[in-house]
Amino acid sequence: MEVRWIGVEPPRLGPPYTAVGLIFSLLLGVWSAQALEMIVGKIPFLEAVNGSTVMLPCTYASCIGIENLYFNWQFNDNGTMHKVCDSVITAEGVVPDVNIYRDRVEFVGKNIKNNVSILLWNITFEDGGLYTCFGRNPKEKYKNHSAIFNLIVVDELRVVDNTLTIMIASAVGGAIAAMMGFMLLKNFTIFVLAKLEEKNKECLVSSSGIDNTENGLSGSKADSKPTPKKK
Ligand SMILES: *[C@@H]1O[C@H](CO)[C@@H](O)[C@H](O)[C@H]1NC(C)=O
Ligand SMILES: *[C@@H]1O[C@H](CO)[C@@H](O)[C@H](O)[C@H]1NC(C)=O
Ligand SMILES: *[C@@H]1O[C@H](CO)[C@@H](O)[C@H](O)[C@H]1NC(C)=O
Ligand SMILES: *[C@@H]1O[C@H](CO)[C@@H](O)[C@H](O)[C@H]1NC(C)=O
Ligand SMILES: *[C@@H]1O[C@H](CO)[C@@H](O)[C@H](O)[C@H]1NC(C)=O
Repeated sequence: MEVRWIGVEPPRLGPPYTAVGLIFSLLLGVWSAQALEMIVGKIPFLEAVNGSTVMLPCTYASCIGIENLYFNWQFNDNGTMHKVCDSVITAEGVVPDVNIYRDRVEFVGKNIKNNVSILLWNITFEDGGLYTCFGRNPKEKYKNHSAIFNLIVVDELRVVDNTLTIMIASAVGGAIAAMMGFMLLKNFTIFVLAKLEEKNKECLVSSSGIDNTENGLSGSKADSKPTPKKK
């Protein structure tokens, strides 16, 4: 059976293309196998109310494993980096002793599943800003790796945003409802009209104009018939 492609060309990978792709993925594979990675999560920011307690998430990953991994958290205070805490992780799963240089900071990651997250207690507006989770693995020729997390401290979670969202949501919802209502009404009207028409049609079905135009042969036949009374 023949498969036909409509619109889209079937993928045809010529020899040069596949070779390039192979080399590229090999390079990528080698590169990613060596790199340590610091990860702050898919959403690298958090908006929190002053006085609340927040977690700054960070984990590390390394394909070649770690040994005496140095890590720290730094706070970017208007361009100057202030160390929040740091430590050396001797091996995966070992709970490290963490030096803490800032008030209201707790190391909660405990290196469980490569977790180096910290907790910030009772945050103030001064705590807002960019936090860098930094890591350096001796196994990797001491290359630096880091990820940045943005903490936004607000007075109160804005209600304005919510009302706007609700307004938009209800406007969109209303529009959809109106459209559905309109379509229902339209369909109902068409239905009623069709029902009404059905009665009138009954006498026309056998020799309607459509039959004649669609079928050229019957057209000539119909011509010979006496013309039915048109609606
Ligand atoms: C947050 O800040 C506002 C304004 O400075 C203050 O009125 C409020 O008490 C603070 N809330 C907490 C929980 O500290
Ligand atoms: C940040 O630095 C700029 C100038 O370098 C200064 O005007 C501003 O007040 C500083 N902000 C804070 C929060 O220290
Ligand atoms: C955070 O604030 C609460 C209530 O104000 C207080 O009991 C607690 O000791 C504070 N925690 C820290 C780590 O400062
Ligand atoms: C890291 O540890 C904290 C505290 O136990 C936990 O809340 C968080 O979910 C952990 N993160 C990951 C990615 O496991
Ligand atoms: C890595 O970071 C340290 C500071 O923590 C710096 O002194 C060093 O030059 C950096 N190395 C590279 C290769 O960027």
